[in-house]
Amino acid sequence: MTKIHILFVCLGNICRSPMAEYLMRDKVKKAGLQQKIETASAGTSGWNDGQDMHCGTADILDLYKISSEGFISRKVRSKDWVFFDYIIAMDDKNLQDLQSIFMQNNEKLFKITTLCPDLGVDNIPDPWYTHNFQQTYTLLDQCCDALLTKIRKKYSI
Ligand code: 4NP
Repeated sequence: MTKIHILFVCLGNICRSPMAEYLMRDKVKKAGLQQKIETASAGTSGWNDGQDMHCGTADILDLYKISSEGFISRKVRSKDWVFFDYIIAMDDKNLQDLQSIFMQNNEKLFKITTLCPDLGVDNIPDPWYTHNFQQTYTLLDQCCDALLTKIRKKYSI
């Protein structure tokens, strides 16, 4: 089996999508699946290209003993469509922008909250504006659990 590649996408690629990338990577590692599943993230805007993740994101990952090492923010590239098996948006605007960037749409592209219908929100709140990194972490934690369950089921891993 070739590796399953997951790309998380938000606007700036310094708050929500890096949090999802590193949180999911940690879950994958704890499940012993790091040879089978790889995570990455990108932003639709490119505003923070080359930067590290937001210190609030690094701090919340640190609080939960999750590594935040080696991150560099980058913009989504059109060739990401071919490489990634899952391209997962944080909110409705990211999803719309991704549909325009790729000029394609199929089941590999979706909004992360659709994995958890009982979450109580339709979009992952952006801590760049809310300053509430814990709220975003709690929501992403549930969504990443659901994502791992979905992938394990689909690939029988
Ligand atoms: P993110 O949050 O999309 O979750 O990374 C933002 C980060 C930076 C900006 C906006 C949102 N910004 O305006 O630079």
